[in-house]
Amino acid sequence: MNERKQLPCNLFLIGFMGSGKSSIASHLRQAYGMTLLEMDEEIERREGRSISDIFASKGEEYFRSLETALLADLQEAENTVVSCGGGVPLRARNVELMKKSGKIVLLTAEPKTILQRVSGSHSRPLLEGRKNVAYIRKMMEERRPYYERAADLILPTDGKDQEAICQELLEGLKSLIPD
Ligand code: S3P
Repeated sequence: MNERKQLPCNLFLIGFMGSGKSSIASHLRQAYGMTLLEMDEEIERREGRSISDIFASKGEEYFRSLETALLADLQEAENTVVSCGGGVPLRARNVELMKKSGKIVLLTAEPKTILQRVSGSHSRPLLEGRKNVAYIRKMMEERRPYYERAADLILPTDGKDQEAICQELLEGLKSLIPD
C-alpha cells in the first residue's frame, strides 16, 4: 500500500502579507494530507463578513482579538497546517498559543516580491493606498523582530518554487524534531 507520510507536528506559517503562506499551506495540505486552516477565511466565516468590513466597522483591535480567540480554539488540532494572518505574531499571547500546539515557520520575501504578489488584491486593509516598496519595507522592518522571535524555522522564499520551499521546510523540521 502506498502510505502517505505525515509530518511530525502541526505547523503555523507566519510572515508578512504576500509572503506565500497560503500557497505553501495548500501545497502541504495536498502533499501530506494535512487539514488546512486559513485564519482570515475562518474569521470571515465566523463573523459573516470580510476582513476589510471587520476592520472598517469594528477596528483592528477587535480583529486582533478574533485572531487570538481562533488560535485558542486550535489547541486540540492534529496534523494541521495553519496559514496565519500577517499580524498574528505581534501579540505575545498568540505566539504562546502557537508554540503550545506546533512549530512556527516564518516565510520571508523581499519587499519588491511582496509588492508583486499583493498588487492585484484589495482584501488587505493595512496596505490599501500604500502599495509601494518603501511602505512595505518600513512595515516589514517594524515587524521583523516579532516574526524572528516567534519563528522556530525561517525560510526565505524569493526565486524558489513551492516544491523547493516545502523541501527546505521538511529538512528544517528534521533538525527541530529528529526521528
Ligand atoms: C494582516 C494580514 C492579513 C489579514 C489582515 C491583517 C496584517 O492576512 O490578517 O489584513 O496585519 O499583516 P495575510 O497575511 O494573509 O494577507
